[in-house]
Amino acid sequence: MTDEIYEHLVYGDAVFSSMPVEVPAVAPRCVVINGVAKTYAMTGWRVGWLIAPTEVAAAVGRFQSHSTSNVANVSQRAALAAVTGPMDPVAQMRVAFDRRRRTMHRMLNEIPGVEAVEPHGAFYAFPSVEGLLGREIGGRRVETSEDLAAALLEVADIAIVPGEAFGAPGYCRLTFALSDDELEEGLTRWREAVE
Ligand SMILES: Cc1ncc(COP(=O)(O)O)c(C=O)c1O
Repeated sequence: MTDEIYEHLVYGDAVFSSMPVEVPAVAPRCVVINGVAKTYAMTGWRVGWLIAPTEVAAAVGRFQSHSTSNVANVSQRAALAAVTGPMDPVAQMRVAFDRRRRTMHRMLNEIPGVEAVEPHGAFYAFPSVEGLLGREIGGRRVETSEDLAAALLEVADIAIVPGEAFGAPGYCRLTFALSDDELEEGLTRWREAVE
């Protein structure tokens, strides 16, 4: 199963590639999933699709029809408008994400104790925060990335997702799907809380 939901959100020299296109031999047992949530900023419309061998697609259709009945018609119409409409708004959005990605990467690495690699796709950074563990932030002892998330919420009013949720303690996930101003404000607060 290959989740291609971020196919249009790649940056710099990164190139999107689809598994059954790269390796046609796997196509007969490959299920490609995708949706409108990311490319068209339609999170919440609850529309996705799959491309799969006929018998798999038919079984999925039967399962869905008995579990949820259907995708709301209004959402289907909106999704159709999105996938058949012009792609310029997507290109504009990608330019904004690309700018925010670079801002986030730079500002994360300016926080003492945080080390971030540059994201090449999607809209998340996943920095190491190991350099912040074993110290105090705003009078709170921080031993784990989970403690760090709680401390930053309390002290700086900012929300990060601790790496424990992804099986990667010592790291955390942040999104740059927010305005440039809010992004800079949040990361400034994090740096100030640490300093
Ligand atoms: C890799 C990946 N696939 C799928 C989704 C979810 O898409 P949807 O909103 O259509 O359920 C997300 C959203 O967080 C995602 O990160």
